Amino acid sequence: MISTILGTIGDTPLITIPNSNRKDEGQVLFKYERYNPGGSIKDRAAMYIIEEAERRGLLKPGGTIIESSSGNFGISLAMIGAAKGYRVIILVDPKTTSSNLALLKSFGAEVIVVTEKDDCGSYHKTRISLANKLAREIDNAYRPDQCFNLLNSEAHYKSTAREIVDACSGRLKVFITAVSTGGQLGGISRYLKAFAPEVQVIGVDAVGSAIFGGHSESYRIPGVGLGWTPVNVNMELVDCAYKITDEQAFLTARAFARHEGILIGPSSGACALVALKAAQSLGPDDRIVCMIADGGERYIHTLFNDEWMEQQGFATYADMTTIRSMAAQLEPWSERPASQANYQGELASSLEVPDSTLRMNAELMAVGRGHSGQASSLYID
Ligand SMILES: Cc1ncc(COP(=O)(O)O)c(C=O)c1O
Repeated sequence: MISTILGTIGDTPLITIPNSNRKDEGQVLFKYERYNPGGSIKDRAAMYIIEEAERRGLLKPGGTIIESSSGNFGISLAMIGAAKGYRVIILVDPKTTSSNLALLKSFGAEVIVVTEKDDCGSYHKTRISLANKLAREIDNAYRPDQCFNLLNSEAHYKSTAREIVDACSGRLKVFITAVSTGGQLGGISRYLKAFAPEVQVIGVDAVGSAIFGGHSESYRIPGVGLGWTPVNVNMELVDCAYKITDEQAFLTARAFARHEGILIGPSSGACALVALKAAQSLGPDDRIVCMIADGGERYIHTLFNDEWMEQQGFATYADMTTIRSMAAQLEPWSERPASQANYQGELASSLEVPDSTLRMNAELMAVGRGHSGQASSLYID
């Protein structure tokens, strides 16, 4: 294959986990998104949003891309900006790993670290409102706005979801993904409920995040969680939700490195634990697809560093038998997530989401390209 770097986004493999998945239970397949050129699933949404912005004339040659990101989406934008010749400014927070900061800078992005926490104890709201302010102040700026832009989930509806369904030959029974902006969960659940409605859709969040309701408190799993239910997800399409602790997620990711030779990040550790649970109640003809949003290299100084783990008060090792029994003991946080959805319709105006994003969302929804759940009030002008 000969291609530009951006032409290699997508079509990632599904990987079996024979050392941890028993032959008499459901078959777990890892959708390994590290194979995207920017190293994570976020390449897909970033590319889709940037190309649509170019097509609509929202992003012009010489323009500046401004985004709030804890790492992966920012890295994808930085890579795309470098390849296409745009200036890129990324607002991160103190949870962003040193490896991610180095990657952003390697692609030439300018990085702003936002240290002020919001009322949920996280940095999302402060990062987003500062990004919106900068976008108003800088000429020819474009805000992809992964949190409020419905093209984020549409990217997964059009690529990731179709790849999964096509590869599973009618045997897919359960789909599992971690949630933050809801791009993956929103887009893939919409596709599955339309084209494979028998598949159970499971969302995985961090203990301490409030996407599926509950109160917000701080947690350490990077890339996951939000203080509210993201507009990219229609909770009516989600069948079940789990909340995983930091230590469970980190230990599971470490176990997969040791026992399967697969490096995965903490959000994927959380998903993999839920996938092992789901496999235990299914048979060998059934398939469970578990999204692995990124690889472990990004967390080499944290998750894969014994000293760092000890400083957090976490154990450093659990064998696969222990991980499997941890999975068996998991209980769903909710089996009717729609009843605990935490949409906050006023956020778009309080965070000053650009009008161009709201207008485009309204247009997408009017032609059935967005969901029409409770969050729809956000898009009515
Ligand atoms: C490592 C990782 N896992 C999971 C997610 C959640 O994906 P989404 O934002 O599509 O909900 C993210 C998002 O930033 C991420 O970086």
